[in-house]
Amino acid sequence: MPLFRCSVWLLGALLSFTSVVRSDGPNPTDDFCSLSAQMMAQKDDMLYIAGGWMLYPSPYTNYNGPNTVLRSLNVSKSFQTSLDSANYVRTEDVPGTVPGVQDAAFFPTESGFDLTFGKWWPYNSTLYGTRDPPIESKKWQYDIASQQWTNTNITLKNWFQTNPQMRITSGMTVWVPSLKQGFLFGGLFASENGTSLKVTALEEHNGLITYDQATNTWTNATTPLGGIAEGGLVHITTATDEVLIQLGGRSDWATRLRPFSEINIYSTSKSKWYTQHLAPDATVPSPRFTFCTALKSASDGSSYQIYIMGGLEAGSSADARGGPTTTSIWVLSIPSFEWTQLPFKATNTAADPKGRIAPSCQAIGEHYIFYYGGRNVPSYYNTPTCDKKADAAFLFDLNTLTWTDQFTPNEGTYEIPQNVIGLIGGDKNGGSTKKAPVKGWSDPDLETIMTLKTTTAGNTGTGGGTRSNNGTSSTSGSSTSSNPSKTNVGAIAGGAVAGVAAVALGLLGAMMLRRHRQKKKGPQLPPNPMKLPLTDAGNLEEGTSSAPLELMDHNRLSGGGVYTAELPAGEVAREIYTRPENRLGK
Ligand SMILES: *[C@@H]1O[C@H](CO)[C@@H](O)[C@H](O)[C@H]1NC(C)=O
Ligand SMILES: *[C@@H]1O[C@H](CO)[C@@H](O)[C@H](O)[C@H]1NC(C)=O
Ligand SMILES: *[C@@H]1O[C@H](CO)[C@@H](O)[C@H](O)[C@H]1NC(C)=O
Ligand SMILES: *[C@@H]1O[C@H](CO)[C@@H](O)[C@H](O)[C@H]1NC(C)=O
Ligand SMILES: *[C@@H]1O[C@H](CO)[C@@H](O)[C@H](O)[C@H]1NC(C)=O
Ligand SMILES: *[C@@H]1O[C@H](CO)[C@@H](O)[C@H](O)[C@H]1NC(C)=O
Repeated sequence: MPLFRCSVWLLGALLSFTSVVRSDGPNPTDDFCSLSAQMMAQKDDMLYIAGGWMLYPSPYTNYNGPNTVLRSLNVSKSFQTSLDSANYVRTEDVPGTVPGVQDAAFFPTESGFDLTFGKWWPYNSTLYGTRDPPIESKKWQYDIASQQWTNTNITLKNWFQTNPQMRITSGMTVWVPSLKQGFLFGGLFASENGTSLKVTALEEHNGLITYDQATNTWTNATTPLGGIAEGGLVHITTATDEVLIQLGGRSDWATRLRPFSEINIYSTSKSKWYTQHLAPDATVPSPRFTFCTALKSASDGSSYQIYIMGGLEAGSSADARGGPTTTSIWVLSIPSFEWTQLPFKATNTAADPKGRIAPSCQAIGEHYIFYYGGRNVPSYYNTPTCDKKADAAFLFDLNTLTWTDQFTPNEGTYEIPQNVIGLIGGDKNGGSTKKAPVKGWSDPDLETIMTLKTTTAGNTGTGGGTRSNNGTSSTSGSSTSSNPSKTNVGAIAGGAVAGVAAVALGLLGAMMLRRHRQKKKGPQLPPNPMKLPLTDAGNLEEGTSSAPLELMDHNRLSGGGVYTAELPAGEVAREIYTRPENRLGK
């Protein structure tokens, strides 16, 4: 959208916002430009997609804000992603009383899902109605049969927050069915002072929060890893343990990305973290964050493959967030802890998701990864290419390494990619003889913790982590999330990302509006728009507290939560993008 048109539109919005938007706003059910940092979780046949941050196509950019729709699709049925999503995705409205959050804990229950935590997205309550903020010590419940959301009024036990304004948000969540426990790792602190316009993402959170569903108890434990956000978290079942694998992400106020040569491993039975260091000369992907993960198990259980897709690579050293998105697909095979990049093709251009920030992944069927949402941009500062009509679903066929549009359940079995077999030996069904990293374990305990339980030959029917499958699998993430294999073995989650682009886009919008005003100082504009306090302005973005004047103006004029998704990116954003050390809270 040209600068001029955009500026004019913003101006128009200022003058006659109500009539314009309210009479014919977008319908979040059938249309959005992009959805990112959503939670995705599987229960039985159904994959659910909740929360996240929506951008709307022009001219509805003023509606950008929380996702108000719960989506679900049946992964026991064939579908074709080249058709409109209405053909295979069911949608239902989420009542306004349910917090509009991204990167929350969305864990399966007997009858549906529990929703807790997450980051509240800035939105205009005149347009969206009142949407309650997340309440840290309570959980919401969604019941599948009745399609009802309930505020349980259950106060989570053992949950403490020294600062009631601080919230926790993370895309790195996993549900471990055998323990009936959910885990929320790292993520960000978010500060919230009463309205959605006052939400600020702060530094990365250093903690592993365990949720015990039976007792409604959340327990926080520090980790030796430091704060990590927007990485991947995957759950695997080994012979003697339920293990969380953490990889990638960013730290230190987004000034540092975590190398893929360090794989963090949490033993739930020992309640202890370990880090497996890969050899210095090992091949590893470039660091990335806001990606998603999907987990598959060799048919014989002799190895797991953790696939990573999408996300951002590092920007400048001062601010890692500004990097390009990546289209490369890498896979980490466990227990040998070897990475390899996979070649891939696409049946057609539309089947290829291209580079995306904060998508979600989940292994479905025998040999597919379902890839959903994320912002389709070449780099952090670009304007997203819209997923028209909410068609944001993609499919990766692991057996052919092809982006395809056709999903067929119960077809074939998962085959370990040739590149991986080249590293770990065996064949496409397993049989790998590598039971440990070539250079050994970084901690002797890992030998036991990471010993996999191989199944007897012949049990190849189910592909991915089917072994402890009890029908519930959760993945989340935005990304990162990873996901588990169809099994449940893993749930995962991911990393979510934050709404990074929002910031840049918001800033851009503000900048353009300002330019426009400088060019033609119309009397229609308030000569001296009221400025919001710095903290408020900072809230609109991800963690910037020293928000530029432009942002404040923008915030004020367009009502917050208004991200001008259609604006082209430019140097401007870079200039006004504030340094991490200026952020609030530190
Ligand atoms: C999903 O599809 C399968 C196959 O058509 C069907 O048997 C099952 O009942 C469906 N599940 C739901 C929850 O609709
Ligand atoms: C929770 O509390 C609210 C406000 O008191 C009430 O309206 C609601 O019905 C309660 N929910 C349940 C499940 O008891
Ligand atoms: C969890 O514990 C760690 C270490 O004490 C602390 O840094 C972190 O802030 C805690 N997280 C929460 C949500 O209280
Ligand atoms: C599977 O889930 C059902 C209900 O969710 C539960 O009753 C059953 O004990 C679970 N089975 C296993 C093996 O965990
Ligand atoms: C929230 O309010 C508290 C107390 O008024 C204040 O100290 C804090 O800086 C505020 N945080 C933000 C992000 O506005
Ligand atoms: C939200 O939108 C309404 C109606 O379009 C507008 O009048 C109001 O100023 C906006 N709210 C804020 C906080 O900007």
